Amino acid sequence: MTFVVTEQCIRCKYTDCVEVCPVDCFHEGPNFLVIDPEECIDCALCVPECPVEAIYDVDDLPADMDEYIELNEKLAKDWPVIDSKTDPLPDAEDWADLPDKREYLVESI
Ligand code: SF4
Ligand code: F3S
Repeated sequence: MTFVVTEQCIRCKYTDCVEVCPVDCFHEGPNFLVIDPEECIDCALCVPECPVEAIYDVDDLPADMDEYIELNEKLAKDWPVIDSKTDPLPDAEDWADLPDKREYLVESI
């Protein structure tokens, strides 16, 4: 089992989740964070910290977010670990409540 960061994080990247993770399993890309499924210990501490409710237990993942299981696994291998909170992206508030953000995910660092 693992926890998964989903679409709502894209273009926000609040990073409150990072602050509570006991095993530093978040990895940071340009406008999204992912969880390394091989490091996550399923503590669930990050879930209530995310202001846009982007993080799910993989067993509770909405059906339209299935793709994010593979994206978290893949991008965690490419992106560096982030272990402390940073400022959100400058226009995070404008994007926080918007749906359909998948097309804006930037994978290359
Ligand atoms: Fe880290 Fe726990 Fe969230 Fe997994 S569930 S990413 S271990 S805080
Ligand atoms: Fe993203 Fe929410 Fe963490 S917006 S960076 S999953 S606090």
